[in-house]
Amino acid sequence: MSRIPVHVAFIMDGNGRWAQVRGLPRHEGHRRGAAVVKKILRVAEKNGIKYVTLFALSSENFLRRSEFEVNFLMNLCEKFLKKYSKTLCEKEVRFRAIGNLSRLPINLQLAIEKLTRSTAHFDRFHLTIALNYGARNEVIRAIGNLLQNKNVDVENLTWKGFEQYLYTKDLPDPDLIIRTSGEQRLSNFLLLQSAYAELYFTKTHWPDFNEKEFLLAIEDYGTRERRMGKTNDKAND
Ligand code: IPE
Ligand code: IPE
Ligand code: MG
Repeated sequence: MSRIPVHVAFIMDGNGRWAQVRGLPRHEGHRRGAAVVKKILRVAEKNGIKYVTLFALSSENFLRRSEFEVNFLMNLCEKFLKKYSKTLCEKEVRFRAIGNLSRLPINLQLAIEKLTRSTAHFDRFHLTIALNYGARNEVIRAIGNLLQNKNVDVENLTWKGFEQYLYTKDLPDPDLIIRTSGEQRLSNFLLLQSAYAELYFTKTHWPDFNEKEFLLAIEDYGTRERRMGKTNDKAND
């Protein structure tokens, strides 16, 4: 394959619709969706991708979905972390969670803290899960923290300086954002970090997303010309 993205972020959408068309409850879609994550991580590693970020629950989902659904998702996440913590450590995967974690159930917070701590020294592959994450909240929080820091020279603030206040401070910007289920929007995900990300949309619902689809997305990424504000190569001739 030609050019491989360093950081791929997924908006794992369509679990509910996947279940509904099969006459199943929405949470069955979430359960099936969680099973896809493991396979996708393996494909990412195999293809030399170094960072994977998963949008698992937005701040809006947290506020606006039924208590049952939110609890189900929280439980699923906790089970996932507990089930795979050993494998993640063995495979030297550095784990992080981003979002307003303080609002999550305490058991999930503890599982996150434990795995974050036990994988903090790894650098081979980075898995980040966005939970109760919203880009607008992230910016408001960043500004609040920045203003509390008396050493900050606000007048000479650069993007590099501001970035340090984001949840993603230790992560490179995503090169490729993949959203499943046919929706073509970012839904408050990594709005600033995605300034120059390539976007890829597929109609496939997340529980049906697979290696073949992922490889198609990577291949498509390889054909994109990432100009980052410059003219294209031919124009420079
Ligand atoms: C994505 O699937 C998972 C979460 C947002 C938690 P959805 O639950 O949004 O599924 P649809 O979009 O209703 O099909
Ligand atoms: C975005 O999906 C959040 C996640 C996939 C976790 P939504 O299903 O919540 O997005 P909207 O509401 O369709 O924009
Ligand atoms: Mg959705």
